[in-house]
Amino acid sequence: MQILGVDIGGSGIKGALVDTQSGELIGERHRIPTPQPATPAAIAHALKQLVEHFQWQGPIGCGFPATIHHGVAKNASNIDKSWIETDAARLFGEVTGLPCFVLNDADAAGLAEMRFGAGQSHGGVVILVTVGTGIGTALFVEGHLLPNTELGHLMLEGMVAERYCSDAARKREDLSWGKWGKRFNQYLARLEFLFSPDLFILGGGCAAKLDRFVDKIATRAPLIAAASLNQAGIIGAALYGAEQIRLQQGTRKKRGDAPKQTH
Ligand code: BGC
Repeated sequence: MQILGVDIGGSGIKGALVDTQSGELIGERHRIPTPQPATPAAIAHALKQLVEHFQWQGPIGCGFPATIHHGVAKNASNIDKSWIETDAARLFGEVTGLPCFVLNDADAAGLAEMRFGAGQSHGGVVILVTVGTGIGTALFVEGHLLPNTELGHLMLEGMVAERYCSDAARKREDLSWGKWGKRFNQYLARLEFLFSPDLFILGGGCAAKLDRFVDKIATRAPLIAAASLNQAGIIGAALYGAEQIRLQQGTRKKRGDAPKQTH
């Protein structure tokens, strides 16, 4: 199945057509800077531009930087507060005129990595951590996702973890990779204490820089970089769209197959 996968982030909205069977991008990816303020109307408009760029007429899978509960955004740490309680799936569907399926951005990256990347066929407990403007997490048990874990909001050193050791914090405080790596190690150690994972996967911009701070990471579970680096969000969003379509078709089929009542 072909789906337009979209990754909505604090600085850019990136999209590409994805072959959900192979997990490969079909053609080039396209990026639009995230409008500021990143209100629902402004982001929906940018999404429409992305759809027009690809002249896309099919379904869209969309990763979004917030808890997404049945399509509705429930928090807003790095986007405009007016997103809270906005039905993102419905809004995007109305503005683009296309079926839109929305999930948390880290969950999207996790789905891609578990299916095609660093966590492929990995059992046990796997935690993907995306480090960018915020910190996003995706938690898998035997390959199954527990959505919306939001472990970037754990408290560390009296601070919300993503304020302490996101990539934005590294830049804001002008930390060396070594200093930042020590903070990130503290964060992973906390996750390890709470969840005893078998594997950590690192996503987001920092994944490409893992060699600069890997010597500071002392967790028992190995930390490896996401295989598709910053495309995992796009691919995973498309996978989620494909899965939702299959589920809808399955439900419809079941309803159609139900024996007719005769009385
Ligand atoms: C948000 C998460 C998101 C993460 C990465 C956090 O601030 O609360 O929902 O996954 O940033 O974008």
